[in-house]
Amino acid sequence: MSSLFSPLEIRGVRFVNRIFVSPMCQYSAEDGMPGEWHLVHLGSRAVGGAALVIAEATAVSPEGRISPWDTGMWSDEHARSFSRITRFISEQGAVPGIQLGHAGRKASTETPWRGGCPIPQEEGGWQPVAPSPLPFAEGYPVPREMTREDIERIVESFALAARWSLQAGFRVVELHMAHGYLLHQFLSPLTNRREDGYGGSFENRVRLPLEVAEAVREVWPDELPLFVRISATDWVEGGWSLEDSVKLSRRLKEIGVDLVDCSSGGVVPNAKIEVRPGYQVPFAEVVRRETGVMTGAVGLITEPEQAEEIVAGGRADAVLLARQLLRDPYWPLHAARALGADVPWPPQYERAKPRG
Ligand SMILES: Cc1cc2nc3c(=O)[nH]c(=O)nc-3n(C[C@H](O)[C@H](O)[C@H](O)COP(=O)(O)O)c2cc1C
Repeated sequence: MSSLFSPLEIRGVRFVNRIFVSPMCQYSAEDGMPGEWHLVHLGSRAVGGAALVIAEATAVSPEGRISPWDTGMWSDEHARSFSRITRFISEQGAVPGIQLGHAGRKASTETPWRGGCPIPQEEGGWQPVAPSPLPFAEGYPVPREMTREDIERIVESFALAARWSLQAGFRVVELHMAHGYLLHQFLSPLTNRREDGYGGSFENRVRLPLEVAEAVREVWPDELPLFVRISATDWVEGGWSLEDSVKLSRRLKEIGVDLVDCSSGGVVPNAKIEVRPGYQVPFAEVVRRETGVMTGAVGLITEPEQAEEIVAGGRADAVLLARQLLRDPYWPLHAARALGADVPWPPQYERAKPRG
């Protein structure tokens, strides 16, 4: 019996297996609205047998976009534009999820394939906001330090975006607290130099991320799961650490966060990261063991046996795959065969299913 292909139930939602599509920005939206590309991109991964398809980092407000082509969730119209996608994903037996985020000081940049550099205001960009007026790297603009009103508005925007996500038909929300975006900027002492109640001590640095999680949990129905993605370490001496992540995850669990998706890095450009297969799995394992919260493992998981070992070994409750699912949207169907699990193929493709 494959553990990877055993179902998982969280609150009122059943996932047919433990393979989740990691959120991936497509930089292909207009005014925050997803289009045909998103339907086919996300839809293909649902057809391919993933249990949960998480739509890309979707901004809770226009200035929270990494690029002008990010998806957004700040109006009824945005919710409507996603509903065709969630309907299609659900029809395939997969669960539609969405990652909600705010880019903070990493906002207003070009697409990666056009270099990813900051877009100046005179060329259609905007001034980013951040906990402290520290630019991400050389050539990046100095962000405007957020006021108390800005902070209150952030909490509100996340809660509103969760409401619209529900309206859009999503059944999982993942809050983006990783990769150096706004909520991670509040968590990390490298980017948060505030001297008010939102900076300084650990308690103060986790305040806004916890307020956001609480506000979202309040509006997100009890029967639906709430996930949080964290960067479990900054990979920098004096930065956010795995120990901090354990403490934060405990607090998130108390609030009603169901699963902590353990990524790493992204808050500063010069971190030394030892990247190798499954390099972030130990973070998921430690957070799970120390806090009892469910975890997701992500990062260079590419082989069926590797994914099976992670779940079977109790190192994480699910695996999230990104690039491997771009290479092969049908990876879950192929992995099932490799692991000897019999999973249904879409009836339209049934005649292509390998036998024996
Ligand atoms: C094209 C692309 C876009 C990404 N966009 C996001 C994103 O929107 N949110 C996020 O948390 N991570 C994002 N990531 C990171 C992935 O979700 C994942 O954590 C990372 O690629 C490591 O997993 P992998 O080795 O399976 O690719 C992105 C990665 C890729 C390749």
